[in-house]
Amino acid sequence: MGDVERHLTDGFGRRIEYLRLSVTDRCDLRCTYCIPEGFHGFEEPEHWLTFGETERLVAAFGRLGVRRVRMTGGEPLLRRNLPELAGRLSTLPGIEDLSLSTNATQLARHATQLKQAGVSRINVSLDSLRPERVERINGRAVLDKIMAGLMAGKAAGFAPIKVNMVVMQAVNDDEIDQMAAFCIDHGFVLRLIETMPMGETGRNAGYLDLQTARQRLQERFGLVPAALPGGGPARYLQTRDGAFTVGFITPISQHFCDTCNRVRLGVDGTLYMCLGQEESFRFRPLLRGGASDAELEAAIRAAVELKPQRHEFREAPGKILRFMSQTGG
Ligand code: 5AD
Ligand code: SF4
Repeated sequence: MGDVERHLTDGFGRRIEYLRLSVTDRCDLRCTYCIPEGFHGFEEPEHWLTFGETERLVAAFGRLGVRRVRMTGGEPLLRRNLPELAGRLSTLPGIEDLSLSTNATQLARHATQLKQAGVSRINVSLDSLRPERVERINGRAVLDKIMAGLMAGKAAGFAPIKVNMVVMQAVNDDEIDQMAAFCIDHGFVLRLIETMPMGETGRNAGYLDLQTARQRLQERFGLVPAALPGGGPARYLQTRDGAFTVGFITPISQHFCDTCNRVRLGVDGTLYMCLGQEESFRFRPLLRGGASDAELEAAIRAAVELKPQRHEFREAPGKILRFMSQTGG
């Protein structure tokens, strides 16, 4: 196959080389900005793509030039035998980088196995260092477990480990400096994230524009812009000695759609082109209906053509009814 054909490009000329793969829509937490308490609308197990179906579809993406895959959820470690899937995906031709986003409540048990299966990098959600706040924001009293997971991840040799903090006005925005100190201590990269209006939960979580926090941190730590490998939407700042790196994910105050390089596959085989738009394509019928590899590849190309230019989180915050765990965070 020629080089040109191996590139997956959307209708706006953006190269798509990154797939976020939701391996379950379930979660053991109930973050205020994500899954509503009492929610029952989880996907039926018979609709989950099997490991075999997932592997086949990811292999097709790999042949088309997708080089990086991140397993997400819901909480991906709730999917039974995730290290087995990781091992199957990390060895696929073309897939150079397999990573994991997790809430880390169960990471202590799985860290070594995941590392051995070829997972290179992990992102851990952590919104507060105070036990009672974690219980309030994340819905369960799990700070000790998350800490154990983070330390197990560090011991297993994941690097870098990124700590994702969703910053909410009057909820945890007073804790940014403590989180920075914690990350400096452990060599973690801190990432501050603006809440996105996904579902009622995301809309009501206490959006805070992070530009002010960015300026304050920049002055306080003497930060300079830094480029981190990964090609995600975060914009990074770093101390000159490299001891502290902080990233800002600011979809609302400063959107980054021009350089978007990703699509997201839900656990049921629905490919979502954008977090903030409805364009999607259902691969499960193809996978279960005997489609050939060539048909899968043609469908991926056609689906990616549907990718919209940008989200409208600011202009139409009421638009997206599905919350993050349904799309894959
Ligand atoms: N806004 C911003 N981030 C969100 N996440 C989930 N819901 C939202 C939202 N509404 C992110 C959290 C978590 C990851 C899995 O998804 O950062 O770390
Ligand atoms: Fe679970 Fe992540 Fe959603 Fe929190 S943000 S409820 S950890 S899927």
